[in-house]
Amino acid sequence: MEKKNIDWENIGFGYMQTDKRYVANYKEGKWDDGALIDDANITMNECAGVLQYAQTVFEGMKAYTTEDGRIVTFRPDLNAARMVDSAKRLEMPVFPESRFIDAVVRTVKANAAYVPPYGSGATLYIRPYMFGINPVIGVKPADEYQFRVFTTPVGPYFKGGAKPITICVSDFDRAAPHGTGHIKAGLNYAMSLHAIMTAHANGFDENMYLDSATRTKVEETGGANFIFVTKNNKIVTPHSSTILPSITRRSIMYVAEHYLGLEVEERDVYLDEVKDFAECGLCGTAAVISPVGKVVDHGKEICFPSGMEKMGPVTQKLYDTLTGIQMGQIQAPEGWIKVIE
Ligand code: PLP
Ligand code: COI
Repeated sequence: MEKKNIDWENIGFGYMQTDKRYVANYKEGKWDDGALIDDANITMNECAGVLQYAQTVFEGMKAYTTEDGRIVTFRPDLNAARMVDSAKRLEMPVFPESRFIDAVVRTVKANAAYVPPYGSGATLYIRPYMFGINPVIGVKPADEYQFRVFTTPVGPYFKGGAKPITICVSDFDRAAPHGTGHIKAGLNYAMSLHAIMTAHANGFDENMYLDSATRTKVEETGGANFIFVTKNNKIVTPHSSTILPSITRRSIMYVAEHYLGLEVEERDVYLDEVKDFAECGLCGTAAVISPVGKVVDHGKEICFPSGMEKMGPVTQKLYDTLTGIQMGQIQAPEGWIKVIE
């Protein structure tokens, strides 16, 4: 199969239309068979549930070309399961997990010419999503839904790639206790837009959100979980019921323990102790592992010893091991890699 003529090394994290997308419709209590289609546009009623009350959930995954030329994806079963949790929390019907994986596989296969080559630094981002499509004016769940998957080739989420970023402690909250912070709902991102624009206007790359109940504990950023490395090489990640359970973070914790023999800890992480860590990184599908060089808390700077030039040594090891597994250079744990073709 011939690849598209794209400057793979220089693409950013943006939308580029690809040839095919998967669509399934839910009506009268059941999902139809679903199909791959050409049209990238959606026509819906002006009063569609998604437009009025933001009834939409999504997932983010990637397809990779391995060293030996296969196209694979990473732990799609966990994305399928998380979408079930997201849908239930927003009173949406569940798209069956096996069908989710099948839809992802079919969409990636149909767009194989857009899967960036091995070693290019780019990947094919996969976006499954679901939304209420029939007219809804009283506040209630829609009766009809559409599930879709599209793909787009992407480069690094943060412009500098592996260069450490500077983040600020946000004055805005991302998620409330007992709210929707633990699911992947569009509404969580809509309300973060003002916060990210404010951070950018103040010269920061991202926000560090604190727990909204006490504003003493580190939660996550707008699109990634945190990992910290202690001065004696322990990997620490915040435990919270209001952060998204990142598949990348769960995988990193496993890799740290079982591949690198490091001690790992998921626990409350207080803002006050951030200054004591040796390294800090953001982890997620889009972000992979992006090193954080500096956290600014209302003018007070916390500079990690790993500095602003390159990833800290432990973060680098985690990054190399995780991406090595994803790109097929390192043997993956059973069930982590789904070969697409
Ligand atoms: N946290 C938030 C708020 C996210 O949007 C994402 C991205 O999906 C993550 C964390 C990372 O999750 P994952 O590693 O499953 O992509
Ligand atoms: C992802 O990492 O896949 C996400 O969905 C994060 C998003 C903010 C791009």
